[in-house]
Order: sequence, then structure tokens, then C-alpha cells
Amino acid sequence: MTDPTYHIESINNFESRINELDKTWTNIYILVDENTKEHCYPLLLDANPFLEVANLLVLDAGEEYKTLEICDSLWSSMLDTGADRKSLLINLGGGVITDMGGFVASTFKRGIDFIHIPTTLLGQVDAAFGGKTGINLEYSKNQVGTFAHPLFTFIDSQFLRTLPERELISGLGEVIKYGLIADKVLFELLKDKESLIQNLDTIISTCVKIKEGYILNDFKESGERKKLNFGHSVGHAIESYFMGEVLHGEAIAAGMICESYLALTEKLITEKELEEVIEMVFSFFNKIELEEKMIEPILNELKADKKNENGVLNFTLIDGIGESSINHFLGEKEVKESLMFYFNL
Ligand SMILES: NC(=O)c1ccc[n+]([C@@H]2O[C@H](COP(=O)([O-])OP(=O)(O)OC[C@H]3O[C@@H](n4cnc5c(N)ncnc54)[C@H](O)[C@@H]3O)[C@@H](O)[C@H]2O)c1
Ligand SMILES: [Zn+2]
Repeated sequence: MTDPTYHIESINNFESRINELDKTWTNIYILVDENTKEHCYPLLLDANPFLEVANLLVLDAGEEYKTLEICDSLWSSMLDTGADRKSLLINLGGGVITDMGGFVASTFKRGIDFIHIPTTLLGQVDAAFGGKTGINLEYSKNQVGTFAHPLFTFIDSQFLRTLPERELISGLGEVIKYGLIADKVLFELLKDKESLIQNLDTIISTCVKIKEGYILNDFKESGERKKLNFGHSVGHAIESYFMGEVLHGEAIAAGMICESYLALTEKLITEKELEEVIEMVFSFFNKIELEEKMIEPILNELKADKKNENGVLNFTLIDGIGESSINHFLGEKEVKESLMFYFNL
């Protein structure tokens, strides 16, 4: 498999990037959801009139549509309109569209070319980059998928202008994570709220470079790439428990506080550093209102997490602001304590 490629630039350059590939396709498909059809597709077409001939595939928006049934309908629509092995699928949307579009493309006729154009901050700094595709099963997220790279991921922060504020902030949860695990300068940059929008391009490219570094060294996630899971063990459990009420970045933000607390109990960070994490998270996110009766079910979600090996809870923890280490094996009791810590904040 080839290494990941991305371009961070104006969508006006999209056509030249396509031409550089020196490829031809029999059919081009563009996958959107109802929101990206309204807000992002016109921007893409205006800048790239050659795409007017492409077939548009439109989905309802939302995580609940990231299913096999929807993939089935997409494969059928493509077959009905003459798609073959030489077709191209362009995924224009957030993580749901790029995850599912990547899965559909990497399995259709045993794999056709695809390109991601992420339109959410979460997509631009994370989901559309790294080669993981996937769909959900009824009770569990991302259980079926492939490792497959798009021809390239094309990132233009212009698309974020129409993104609802809550979605933008949710994406910042991932950005805080990159700062905490690998880049103190990025973490500091996030304190400058006034210039946040101005700094967005720098922020995005910094995150992409950090993720790229991990992927190039550890594509299948057996080592360093696990660092990207910081905040995600507890975060995923919270996200699953609240089933759609809490956005991914919101859950990860709470998860980062809990897991930083674990880092403190492991003597990896100081109380002052924990305070810094909490301050950063609450400068963007409201506290998720947990009740004591929720702690046990959240813990059960965590134990079911696929990242745990042989029933032991495996964490990536920070060793300071901007540094992290993998494979910290912890017991249920400590994790419960970390949830109680968050609960009592
Ligand atoms: N493959 C990976 O490595 C990876 C990593 C992280 C997350 N993910 C996946 O990503 C998904 C979450 O992604 P997401 O947060 O981008 O969610 P999403 O795709 O559901 O997008 C969020 C909402 O914003 C709307 N939207 C998107 N772009 C817009 C724009 N520019 N203007 C207006 N509205 C816009 C969408 O229609 C949707 O309603 C999850 O399914 C998660 O599992 C995958
Ligand atoms: Zn994440």
C-alpha cells in the first residue's frame, strides 16, 4: 500500500491535483450528505466545473446512517449507473461520509479509486486521513471496515465556514489531543482564542503532520500510532453511553480529563499539568453532566472496548504537556476513580 498523500490548499487547485495523477476514470461519483450537498458541493463545483458530469450520491446526514444497508444502496446505485473498476468516488463530507465512502470504494469490485475532501474539522485533522474506513453495526461503532488509502485527501479550511459551531468545537477536542500527546506549541496556540480562526490553517496542518508521523511508522496500530488513542478509552465509553447525545470531540474532551487524572495517579504528570488540561478543555467545552448511577454502565462500555487486550485495560497516557507514552495497563478501580474525579469537578 502506498503512503498517505494530502494537499492542504484552496479547492481551486483540486483539478490540477487530479491532473497530476495522470489517470482516467470511466465514471466519477461524488458522495455527499444533505448538508454537504447544500454547503460544500456548490463550492467544489464552482471551483471545478469539470465535475459537473459526475454522478451525485446523496445521503441523509448522521452517524445512524453509517450502516451496511446504506452501503448496499450505494453499491447498487453505482452498479445501476454503470460503475466499473475504473470508476472514481470523491467523498465530500465529514467523518461519516469519508469513513463510509472509503469503505464502499475499497470494497466495490475489490477496490476502486477514491479521494477524500473532508468538510468538518474532525474530518480534516483526523477522520479523512490515516487509511481507516468503516461502518457501524447495530450496537457498536466501526466494527466492520478496511485499511485503505485514498488517492489523496484534499483539505481546504474554507469548507469549515458553514460548519455549525458545536461541530467545530467538537473537532477542537481532537486538536487539543494532538497538542497534549505531541506538541506543546500547538497546545499553547489554542490558548489564543482571538486568533483561533486565523490560526486554523496552521492548526490543521500541524495536526495532519503529527498524525502522518505516527501512520508512516505504524500503519496497523501496533505501536506509536496508539498514542492517538489518548482520551479515547474513557471518551469512547462516554460517547457510547450517551448514544448520539454527546459528540465525539465532546466525549474525548471529557476522556482526556479522566485519562490525565490517570496520568497523575501514575505519577506521569504533576497536579499543575492536570489543572492545565482541565482549564484547556473547559475553555472550549461544557462539562458533561454525569450522574453517579452512570459510572458503572460507562465502565462496562469501556471494558467492552476493542482496544483492550485480554480483558486488561490498556491506556495511552500523557507524560507532560506535549508528550505521551503507550501501553499503560490499569485496573477498573483506578478508571472508576477517574470518572468520579470528573463527576466531582
Ligand atoms: N477513520 C478514522 O480514522 C476516523 C477518525 C475519527 C473519527 N472517525 C469517524 O468520523 C465520524 C464523525 O465525523 P464528523 O464529526 O465529521 O461527523 P459527520 O460526518 O456526521 O459531520 C457532522 C455534521 O456536520 C455536517 N457537515 C459536514 N460538513 C459541513 C459543512 N462544511 N457545513 C455544514 N455542515 C456540515 C454533516 O452533515 C453532519 O450533520 C464518526 O463516524 C467517527 O467514527 C473516523
Ligand atoms: Zn477521535
